[in-house]
Amino acid sequence: MQLKQALASAVDRLEAADVGSPRLNAEVLMMFVLGVNRAYLYAHPERELTEEEEARYGEVQAQRATGMPSQYMTGHQEFWGLDFVVTPAVLIPRPETEHLVETVIELARETPRPKIVDVGTGSGCIALALAHELKGAEVYAVDVSVDALEIARPNAARLQLESRVRFVQGDVLAALADVHDFDFVVSNPPYVGFDEADKVQKSVRDFEPRVAVFSGERGLDVIGPLVEQAHEALKPSGWLVMEIGFSMRDAVVNLLSSTSWAEVRVVPDLQGIPRVVAASKR
Ligand SMILES: C[S@@+](CC[C@H](N)C(=O)[O-])C[C@H]1O[C@@H](n2cnc3c(N)ncnc32)[C@H](O)[C@@H]1O
Repeated sequence: MQLKQALASAVDRLEAADVGSPRLNAEVLMMFVLGVNRAYLYAHPERELTEEEEARYGEVQAQRATGMPSQYMTGHQEFWGLDFVVTPAVLIPRPETEHLVETVIELARETPRPKIVDVGTGSGCIALALAHELKGAEVYAVDVSVDALEIARPNAARLQLESRVRFVQGDVLAALADVHDFDFVVSNPPYVGFDEADKVQKSVRDFEPRVAVFSGERGLDVIGPLVEQAHEALKPSGWLVMEIGFSMRDAVVNLLSSTSWAEVRVVPDLQGIPRVVAASKR
């Protein structure tokens, strides 16, 4: 079968299975199976696939049709222009989380050697993007999941940042209770409530780690302790910067409304949806 025919039939199959962006998915899976880039697909539409390639392409389409994200098949996701290895032990880094990284970089302008901790590091994408960007930063990264840390550490090594980021296993900031005076506590915590589970995409529900997505009935079981412990860990004028769910603005601003926080900013994403909350310690 020719490459273009295989692609066309994959698009039909993925469309029939209700996979979003079927053409893009068919191409990503073909690039993965052949080990080529997108330009190759367009330059060689008449290339004959071997039997083995055809069979492998059929297998990955079948997996994708079950809803498995293609990143868990290819094992990679780009974030902040860097390549991250991902497995089902970690959340797939999302482009919208780059708003959080941007917010921290902006706030860190006046702090040449910021001390930063990323809570719930997953693949390590936020901690490593910040270490990459802020050369003088001292970065810690925490996750409750041992399996996630086993992906984050090699990601640091692949990006040659292992000497700049210290990975620690623990619940929120408990394992770093002895480390004080952070300039930044940053986090993309799990923030979906069990009562909103039906609003989450099926592929997220079925394939991404539950501990990375869900957090108690109302989605606040990690954010609550995070706000309290961040206040302890930050130096005065230090910033807590968190990604939040699309409907959580009021609940989170409410948690930060005590006199312990001097300023609370809500940063919308490109669609105007409140995406990042930043609060400075009084
Ligand atoms: C939404 S994912 C974010 C992963 C990564 N930072 C990103 O932005 O792609 C949340 C992460 O928090 C971790 N986590 C959940 N509960 C935690 C807790 N109580 N303490 C520390 N980490 C936790 C999960 O294992 C998961 O890796």
